[in-house]
Amino acid sequence: MSAARTPPAHVAIIMDGNGRWAQQHLRPRAFGHKAGRVAVDRVVTACAKAGVKMLSLYAFSTENWRRPPHEVKILMELIETALREEAEKMRKNDIRLRVLGDRTALSASLRSAIDDAEALTASGSRMDVVLAINYSGQWALCETARRLAQAVADGTLQADAIDEAAFSAHRPMPDLPPVDLLIRSSGEMRLSNFHLWELAYAELWFTDVLWPDFGEAQLDAAFAAYHHRDRRFGALSQP
Ligand code: FPP
Repeated sequence: MSAARTPPAHVAIIMDGNGRWAQQHLRPRAFGHKAGRVAVDRVVTACAKAGVKMLSLYAFSTENWRRPPHEVKILMELIETALREEAEKMRKNDIRLRVLGDRTALSASLRSAIDDAEALTASGSRMDVVLAINYSGQWALCETARRLAQAVADGTLQADAIDEAAFSAHRPMPDLPPVDLLIRSSGEMRLSNFHLWELAYAELWFTDVLWPDFGEAQLDAAFAAYHHRDRRFGALSQP
C-alpha cells in the first residue's frame, strides 16, 4: 500500500462474490464465505496501515434473510466466530469495532459476541470498523424517522427544525461520517441498500475481482482512482 497521500477517511465496502468464487473452485458457497472472512482480515489490516479512520463493511443485509436458512445460519455463525476470534487482535491494533443494524432479530449468542467485541475494543482510536449486520440504508432511514417523530411527540423537537443536521443526529449511529469511497467487488454496480444517507457524495469504485480475492492490490487501485477524482460537492473545482 503506497502511503503517499491521505487515504479516504471513511471507506465503505460491499463485499460481493463469495458464492461465485466458491462456484469457480467447485466448492459449496460456505467455502466462499470462509474465504471472504480471510479477505476481511486482510482489508482491515491494510486499511489501518494506510491510515483509514473508518471502514464500514456490509456483512449481512436485511434482505439477506431471503437466502436459504442453511446459508443464513452459516453466515451468522461465521460472523459470530470472527467477532470472537478477531476482537483481541483488533484491541491490540487499537481498532474499535462497532456493529450497526437491527440486533433484535439476531441470536442471543451473536448479540453477546457483539457486546463482548464492542466492549473489548471500545478504547481503540486508530480506526473504527463498523460491521453492518441485519442492516440496510432504508432500515436506518426508517429508524431515524421513528426517532425524529418520537422527539416531536415528546416536545423536544419542532417539526420545522428537522434539517440535515437534526436528521443526521437522530440516525442509529449519529457519528457515522459521510462515506468518502464506496468499493464494491464482483462486477455488480449497485448500492444494494447500503448507507443511503451517508453515500450522498461518495466516490464509487467497482472491481470485477470477487471478494475472496480482494486484497491490498485492489485497495491500492481504489485509492489511486479516488485521488484522481475531482470532489466538488456541488460547488466548483478548486482553481
Ligand atoms: C456476498 O457474497 C457476501 C455476503 C452476503 C456476506 C459477506 C460476508 C462475508 C465476507 C463473510 C464474513 C464476514 C465477516 C464480517 C467476518 P455472495 O454470497 O452474494 O456472492 P455471490 O453474489 O457470488 O453469490
